[in-house]
Amino acid sequence: MPNRPSLTTMGGMHPDYDHLQQAAKDHLWMHFTRHSTYENSDVPVIVRGEGAYIWDAQGKRYLDGLAGLFVSQLGHGRAELADAAAKQARELAFMPLWSYAHPTAIELAERVARYAPGDLNRVFFTTGGGEAVESAWKLAKQFFKMTGKPTKHKVISRAIAYHGTPQGALSITGLPGMKAPFEPLVPSTFRVPNTNFYRSEETSYLGPHDEHAFGQWAANRIAEAIEFEGPETVAAVFLEPVQNSGGCFPPPPGYFQRVREICDEYDVLLVSDEVICAFGRLGHMFGAERYGYQPDIITCAKGLTSGYSPLGAMIASDRLTEPFLTGHESFAHGYTFGGHPVSTAVAMANLDIFENEKVNEHVRATEGAFRATLEKLNDLPIVGDVRGDGYFYGIELVKDKATKETFDEAESEKLLRGFLSKALFDEGLYCRADDRGDPVVQLAPPLICDQEHFDEIEQILRVVLDKAYSLL
Ligand SMILES: Cc1ncc(COP(=O)(O)O)c(C=O)c1O
Repeated sequence: MPNRPSLTTMGGMHPDYDHLQQAAKDHLWMHFTRHSTYENSDVPVIVRGEGAYIWDAQGKRYLDGLAGLFVSQLGHGRAELADAAAKQARELAFMPLWSYAHPTAIELAERVARYAPGDLNRVFFTTGGGEAVESAWKLAKQFFKMTGKPTKHKVISRAIAYHGTPQGALSITGLPGMKAPFEPLVPSTFRVPNTNFYRSEETSYLGPHDEHAFGQWAANRIAEAIEFEGPETVAAVFLEPVQNSGGCFPPPPGYFQRVREICDEYDVLLVSDEVICAFGRLGHMFGAERYGYQPDIITCAKGLTSGYSPLGAMIASDRLTEPFLTGHESFAHGYTFGGHPVSTAVAMANLDIFENEKVNEHVRATEGAFRATLEKLNDLPIVGDVRGDGYFYGIELVKDKATKETFDEAESEKLLRGFLSKALFDEGLYCRADDRGDPVVQLAPPLICDQEHFDEIEQILRVVLDKAYSLL
């Protein structure tokens, strides 16, 4: 694994700092950003990255505790990936995949199909995750129209799950507040409970405090929803291997096996939304591999290029592809930049490094140490739960550890927006304090991290969480 850069590689103040600040405030529309936050403070401008660290325009260093946005699997500053992009841009900067192909898209499709479980052999490239989700739903609808089940079109997904911002993907998303400004969205999506075992008593689950039993209950809610809607109308269920939003809910043992049975029984497609979980985040190329289930479609993006160029993909099974391979049929869907040559070339170089440096093996070998280090935080009164797998964790914050009492809206606002995110950043840790479900701090560092990074994360969290508790 590459060495951690020394503090002496820190840059100074960016020569154009004042202009960057003003122009950001005047012209840049940041995503999911409350711009008023920056009325009286500077916009954090990140100018450089190396290994697991990023630097801001004032020369200050931060540990990248979120791999950008679950993206930078190999960390920053990998010259091989930059070189692969430059080489491809010189050779063939652009060609769409609309009836034509180019070598790195072909090679990458072959490679991704080889990694993907079972007969997931056909790769449809997009530019990101939301487009992959969108593509998967459209494929599910058209597939059933072409194969004699034209009324199958509805989608089932889980409460609080995030699946992207295009109107179809947003409709599949289980976060009412995020959807409200854009309603009406695409109709025909329905929610089932997620696998938040920590708060299982707050659901309608009445069984024993046992993860397997809870997982069976949660999976059976999918069967129930299919029955409620009518199996002849339901096309697909979209699930992440580990649900991100809400704060990292791993699947209880046996959950996906039961979901697979249900999908088979009702002829409903199982879409594994691995936009975060694929490419090493859980120590495998795909999360489905880790938890031992066979999806009909995988959607992925982010780690496929480690962020050195944008790319997403929908990977479909032979069964779903077959009707499109003969006669006049086609999947009338595409994106100008889907499978961009520079991105597919970068993805090939990224996956070469995954293999050569045994990145998945590294995650599997060290994930126990990462978990153990984060679990030290359990001694803090504000830490209710530490959960996740691989290099993907959520730390749920509570007001009262014994009762699991959470924060009300105003406290959450004060704690997360008013204090935590900024305090963590000020202490040198870039990560995310999120309240799309209960308040959590999310951690998903680059996969090159090891014990010294885990310790640094733990130490910063300890200081800041302790202070947060004292402010309550
Ligand atoms: C599970 C999941 N699906 C879809 C998306 C949307 O991906 P993108 O932002 O690349 O469109 C995300 C983004 O984080 C995601 O986590």
